[in-house]
Amino acid sequence: MSGAAPPAPSRSIVLVGLMGAGKSNIGRRLAARLHLSFVDADAEIEAAAGATIEEIFERHGEAYFRAGERRVIARLLDGPPHVLAAGGGAFMDPETRARIRTRAISIWLRADLELLLTRVARRDNRPLLKDGDRRAILTALIEKRHPIYAEADIIVDSIDGPPELTLGQILAALKAFRADARSSGSPFPSPGGATTFLSVPG
Ligand code: S3P
Repeated sequence: MSGAAPPAPSRSIVLVGLMGAGKSNIGRRLAARLHLSFVDADAEIEAAAGATIEEIFERHGEAYFRAGERRVIARLLDGPPHVLAAGGGAFMDPETRARIRTRAISIWLRADLELLLTRVARRDNRPLLKDGDRRAILTALIEKRHPIYAEADIIVDSIDGPPELTLGQILAALKAFRADARSSGSPFPSPGGATTFLSVPG
């Protein structure tokens, strides 16, 4: 599973996916393997706002949070290459999605409902999960967001097991993605080009 890590990419890598998919946990490990810095978009938004995500939602509402999220991610993607864990809703914004497509390599960390439910149970500070049944909320978000997350350059299943396993899948997918890019003669596959799938059976 381990193998040599691919050389650090010249673009940022953005992890997208639902709350609980493991974007921050895996992102931190991926950054270490690629010798890149790791940035958590939610933490950057909190620092910029001087308030927690919960407080931003409570005081100003979701639209205000989304506008801040869009600005913060745009600023980060203008900076040097890094691994960015985007909040679950970030990739749903068309402007942010277009920016990620032109500036970065996107990876959808895909996880099924049961895994997401287990993982989100560990924290109680996600505004979207506060009012109502988590299973129902996440089911609706899966329906709405998965087709959009599927536009990511790379799709990797988040494994219910040691994070190193998921990390290994991501490193392999990145290698394949970049080999594709080389064989197509361009530094990166064309926008909207084929997605690299790396599913783990069973
Ligand atoms: C959100 C996900 C959260 C955070 C905010 C909204 C979403 O980030 O940005 O609570 O819309 O899915 P994580 O995916 O890191 O939990």
